[in-house]
Formats: sequence, structure tokens, C-alpha cells
Amino acid sequence: MVVAKKYIVVNPFEGEPKKSDFMIVEENLPELQEDEFLAEAAYMSIDPYQRMKLGNKYPCDMIGGQVAKIIASRNSEYPEGTWVMGHFGWRTHTISKPENEKFCMQKPFLYKLPDFEDLPVSLALGVCGRVGNTAYFGFTQICQPKPGETVVVSGAAGAVGSHVGQIAKILGCRVIGFAGSDEKCKWLTNKLGFDCTANYKTTDLAQFLKENAPNGVDCYFDNVGGEISSTVLSQMNQYGRVAVCGAISSYNETDPAKRKATILQPFIVSKQLKIEGFLVNRYADRTIEGVNQNLKWVKEGKLQYREHITDGFETAVDAFIGLFRGENTGKTLVKVK
Ligand SMILES: NC(=O)c1ccc[n+]([C@@H]2O[C@H](COP(=O)([O-])OP(=O)(O)OC[C@H]3O[C@@H](n4cnc5c(N)ncnc54)[C@H](OP(=O)(O)O)[C@@H]3O)[C@@H](O)[C@H]2O)c1
Repeated sequence: MVVAKKYIVVNPFEGEPKKSDFMIVEENLPELQEDEFLAEAAYMSIDPYQRMKLGNKYPCDMIGGQVAKIIASRNSEYPEGTWVMGHFGWRTHTISKPENEKFCMQKPFLYKLPDFEDLPVSLALGVCGRVGNTAYFGFTQICQPKPGETVVVSGAAGAVGSHVGQIAKILGCRVIGFAGSDEKCKWLTNKLGFDCTANYKTTDLAQFLKENAPNGVDCYFDNVGGEISSTVLSQMNQYGRVAVCGAISSYNETDPAKRKATILQPFIVSKQLKIEGFLVNRYADRTIEGVNQNLKWVKEGKLQYREHITDGFETAVDAFIGLFRGENTGKTLVKVK
């Protein structure tokens, strides 16, 4: 009998997630039934969206994507040895079957990994997975960048942001990134080819943009929200486009006084801006297309990636808390096996 370990969340998160919000429990898995497979997690994805309210009832299972290997199967389409991407949650072993995984917000909920050749399968959770598709579809479809335009990316050294900036360079744009440390900023300019960067914790961003985007910002890919975004929106060009991907600056903030930022409407009207929120699920039907495009860029050496991997199932909560504290550069993952 296989014993799975899984994380349960005991109460809704309040402010920054805490270790006491989680418990690890064991679950005895039953025998496989027809069409079922047993998947063993290799890597679990740690993402900001996992901070959301997980349902109406607590305790509940922790949500999340994972790259897993099928280690036993009674389903000929998913034989033993197959690598899959599944939204099985934070757990070591999962029994499932394809029909259980079809109807979900995160669809396609389950898919077999394309051939990554000598690249690590962990990329299926980052640059060649949902995160990569967020960057690829969100930036190209919502911002509709043109060569020569000026693009600003916030959360620029994170999984999505570092990817967006590189796509912008591939497409011939000028790219400005904001991140939370000088070291992150150096990585963006020296290794990823961002044109210029600023540490938002120590820089007057309004002044920085006046000097570094004197003709205005054409596209803004917003990962953080709050005052950083109000500052960028105040310096957009006519007909600028804004892709609102996330608002991480607000996720853990419980003080109503701090959940406020400068009013945006005057800039939206005077600069005739187009601002659009999106969820990567909108492009779910194009998942494999996005994965293959990003994989191609990685193989061609046009897209660099960095993974922030902690070792061991038990490290997931620390990795999750660290994500909100900016401890990661690039994609945050937990290596399970
Ligand atoms: N719309 C969608 O479908 C979709 C899909 C995936 C992700 N997202 C969103 O995209 C954003 C980035 O996600 P990710 O997975 O790539 O995470 P990530 O950027 O790899 O990690 C989070 C980063 O956020 C930064 N951060 C934390 N608190 C901040 C604050 N108060 N102000 C500014 N930056 C702060 C930290 O970097 P610093 O050191 O720079 O502060 C941290 O490293 C998130 O908002 C997430 O919710 C949206």
C-alpha cells in the first residue's frame, strides 16, 4: 500500500501565510481501479495565487500544480513512466484518472509533458508551463507590443516578470524592470538583457521613469499593483496598453490604509489607456502552443530561466512564505523526489 503525504490548510490565510496555517497528514491510497494511475510528485509549484481563499470549508487540501511521474497505471494512455503536469495539490502521491481532471479552472488540468530532451522536467512548472504561458499570452495578447516600444515590467525578477521582459526583448522592445533588490536588478540587466532596472525599495520610480522613459511608457506588464503601478500609469504614452497580471503588493496587506494607491482615472483618460486584467486560463486551449513556443526559445538560447528550488516536501511552507518576502529569483519550486 502506498502512503501519500499531503498538506492541508487549517484556516483561511490572514496576512502573511504562517507555518501554523498548514499541517502535513498521511493518507493510505487504495488499490488502482480501471483507468486510474498513480502519480508520484517530482516537483511542486509554489505560486502567489495559492494565497487566495481556498474554499468555504477549512481544513482543506492545499492547491497547486506539480510535475509527476506515473509509477503505476491501469490506463493505457498514461502508462507507467509517463511524465505529467497535474493540479494535484501539495502532495507526494496521487491516484487519479483523466476524466477526473478535465473540468477545472486551471484546465487543461492534466497533460503529458512534451519532450524536453535534456532540459529538466521542472521547467513544466515554470518557463515551459503555466507561468511561461502567463508571460507569453498575457504580454503578447494584451499588451500587443511593437518593436521599438518601451515596456515596463514590475515584479521583474520573478517567474512571470523575468520571462515577460525577455519576450519583450525578443520582440524588439526597450525593457525597463522593477525588482526588490540590487542583486536582482543586476541579474536582469547583465544576464537577461533588460535595458535598465530599478530597485523599487530604494529608487524614486517617478524620477527614474522621467529619466529612462522620457517619451513615455507604451506597455506595462503589472505583477504587483499598488503605488508602483500608479507611478507607471502616470507616465504612460498615448494609447498605452496595460496587462494586469497580478497585484502581489496587496495579497498579504490587511491594513485598509495601506491598501490604497494614487487615483488612476486622470491618466487613463488623458492618455487614452487600455487596461485589461487577464487569467492565463483564458488561453487554456492554447496551452501546448505556448509551452512549445517557450520551449523553442529556451532551446535556441533566447530565453534564460532561473529556478529557486528548495529540497524536500517539508520545505513547501517556507518556500511559500519566502515568495512573498522576495526570497526567490525566477520560479519557486519544491523538489519532492
Ligand atoms: N493572471 C494570471 O493568470 C497569473 C498567473 C500567474 C501569476 N500571476 C501573478 O503574477 C505575479 C507574479 O507571479 P510569479 O509566480 O511570477 O511570482 P514571483 O514574481 O516569482 O514571486 C513573487 C515576487 O513578488 C515580489 N513582491 C512581493 N511583495 C511585493 C510587494 N509588496 N511589492 C512588489 N513586489 C513584491 C517579490 O520580488 P521582489 O524582491 O522584487 O519584491 C517576489 O519575489 C503575481 O502577482 C501573481 O499573482 C497571475
